Amino acid sequence: MSALPALLLVGCGKMGGALLSGWRERGISTAIVVDPAPGAAELAAPGIKITASAQEIPPDFTPAAVILAVKPQAAPQVLPAYGRFAGQAVFISIMAGKTIQSIGQMLGADAAIIRAMPNTPAAVRQGITVAVAGSLVTESQHALADTLLAATGGVAWVTEESLLDPVTAISGGGPAYVFLLTELLEKAALEQGIPPDLARLLARQTIIGSGALLAGSTDDAANLRIAVTSPGGTTEQALAVLRADDAWPKSISAAIDAATKRSQELQG
Ligand SMILES: NC(=O)c1ccc[n+]([C@@H]2O[C@H](COP(=O)([O-])OP(=O)(O)OC[C@H]3O[C@@H](n4cnc5c(N)ncnc54)[C@H](OP(=O)(O)O)[C@@H]3O)[C@@H](O)[C@H]2O)c1
Repeated sequence: MSALPALLLVGCGKMGGALLSGWRERGISTAIVVDPAPGAAELAAPGIKITASAQEIPPDFTPAAVILAVKPQAAPQVLPAYGRFAGQAVFISIMAGKTIQSIGQMLGADAAIIRAMPNTPAAVRQGITVAVAGSLVTESQHALADTLLAATGGVAWVTEESLLDPVTAISGGGPAYVFLLTELLEKAALEQGIPPDLARLLARQTIIGSGALLAGSTDDAANLRIAVTSPGGTTEQALAVLRADDAWPKSISAAIDAATKRSQELQG
């Protein structure tokens, strides 16, 4: 596997840091990381240079990709300084809600832009990223972006940018729903008189183990559920409550719909 080409990472927080550490495993030749936060220095390694601002990037640096991982609200102040790489590098934005069109307005009309939505399991290489390529992206830039995004887990490509709104609702926010389920299982365990340490252990390990079981199986989730459910047994009682029309089927659809609509409202 050959080392990655020269990279420029703008913003090295939770998500940018996860990407960078995935690329380090893959083999970085040269990378410049721009982030004013001192924590970014922990990621320093041979070939990686950390700088606090775009002004410190050497004028002869020619990255193949510029990865935009700052907060969306910072984009108008931060992005214009990177417009000078338009025409040579592919820009890969992971900023939630920033459209290819709006990013193009900040970088210049000749910027080749890919918009991607990762999720936080990226930190343990178990993420899922959905990406969409703008019209100026070449085949080789598309392939490079696929390699870079795959450093933190799975990658799926779509051709309709509007799909990133429901994607944001499902997989972008999805880890939060699973963590909420963990919290609620722990709370219910406490309510049933299980001691706190055991309640926490049972809730966490049930989520972790179920995820691993799902990961190791090609079976549908529905079949894995049925395998736990004996007719007339305890799980069937719980599922009857959870699967009532006005319970999980309704509330999860409503939650995803609300998040999708919020994502649409935040576009810009
Ligand atoms: N977290 C998620 O679940 C998730 C999921 C999908 C997409 N995203 C997207 O990923 C992006 C990053 O999110 P995050 O959770 O990684 O946020 P984060 O941890 O706050 O990372 C952003 C980083 O950018 C740095 N920064 C601020 N101004 C900068 C500048 N002028 N130049 C370079 N770097 C600068 C910040 O430093 P300071 O801390 O010093 O300000 C911080 O280290 C966001 O656009 C978000 O929408 C996040």
